[in-house]
Amino acid sequence: MYSVNENYLKLPGSYLFSNIAKKVAAFSAANPDAPIIRLGIGDVTQPLAPAIIEALHSAVDEMAHAETFHGYAPDLGYEFLRSAIAKNDFQARGCDIAADEIFISDGAKSDSGNIQEIFGPDCRIAVGDPVYPVYVDTNVMAGRTGTYDPKTETWSNVIYMPCTAENGFVPELPKEVPDMIYLCFPNNPTGAAITKDELQKWVDYANKNGAVIIYDAAYEAYITEEDVPHSIFECEGARTCAIELRSFSKNAGFTGVRLGATIIPKDLKCGDVMLHSLWARRHGTKYNGAPYIVQKAGAAVYTEAGKAQIKEQIAYYQKNARTIYEGLKNAGYTVSGAVNSPYVWLKTPDNMTSWEFFDFLLEKANVVGTPGSGFGPSGEGYFRLTAFGSYENTLEAIKRIENI
Ligand code: MLT
Repeated sequence: MYSVNENYLKLPGSYLFSNIAKKVAAFSAANPDAPIIRLGIGDVTQPLAPAIIEALHSAVDEMAHAETFHGYAPDLGYEFLRSAIAKNDFQARGCDIAADEIFISDGAKSDSGNIQEIFGPDCRIAVGDPVYPVYVDTNVMAGRTGTYDPKTETWSNVIYMPCTAENGFVPELPKEVPDMIYLCFPNNPTGAAITKDELQKWVDYANKNGAVIIYDAAYEAYITEEDVPHSIFECEGARTCAIELRSFSKNAGFTGVRLGATIIPKDLKCGDVMLHSLWARRHGTKYNGAPYIVQKAGAAVYTEAGKAQIKEQIAYYQKNARTIYEGLKNAGYTVSGAVNSPYVWLKTPDNMTSWEFFDFLLEKANVVGTPGSGFGPSGEGYFRLTAFGSYENTLEAIKRIENI
């Protein structure tokens, strides 16, 4: 008889957002007329910008003719997209990143889950608490996290870095030195941002201690404050200690299209092994590249028209974030996030647990959010709402919450 990867059996429950979807489906079946508003999963609602749609149409037409047809994409991505990203997202900000240090993929979720494969099984990870569950769960699957304690909801071999109201939801440098440090800024789920000076301390710490930072910049498009970096490569020395994950989902609405990028500088080495080479090997072996039509759509994000349209779309979601933030604050809630992020992080009222508040909100206001405890023990007593709904639904949801 074959055996299974027993690490999977260690995973408690199901993936957070699958769990929520099941609960909402059950509520909806029992209350078919309930006008549910979903501000739970960070999924966008606005249509793709016209420049992107145009690029998709024209790429589809190319696929209809032998002369312009495209089969397998290059393993690491089309040059036109890698160059556009290097130029616009990095070089324009003074970051020393070249096109051939950018790997195109089908999204930051896959990359954030897969990247751990190139590290040794004994590497110890450090994560913020609360945290995007993919970082931890994929390391559980790889057998890197030790045993799970259901009481504390923590893994024995993971270094948790609490992100609390006291530290402004930005973790302190860990005393025990990890091998791999996952950082996400602007943060999912708390919406907190890190200043460049603070991030520089992490880069210095990683370089000093021989650790690697896996920096998830999926939400950088929402940054409004000057001193908040859009990339870890704005920090001195990041080329020797950091990998950055980028998404097209949150800045350009690609959640249903799928496109992302991972940046691995060639200076990032473990001894004399370049992590760039390992990731290139993995990509070449396991992946046939994001579709041509999708990469063409991605390139449209960087055209003048694309940039202007996307800016407008982000402003739309930013207005939602402000609406949620102000509305909840006026209703007496303790809220944070929103300023540099599409997420609003609120303290649950009346000593309700995160899941109690989830049920309360669903039943009384028919509004779906995400319980903070689903992101880790320090998320208990908190709740996340996203700004990715329509403006009308966002207003209505806040009105309903105010009324309860
Ligand atoms: C979230 O709601 O946390 C995000 O949608 C998750 C993701 O981007 O995969």
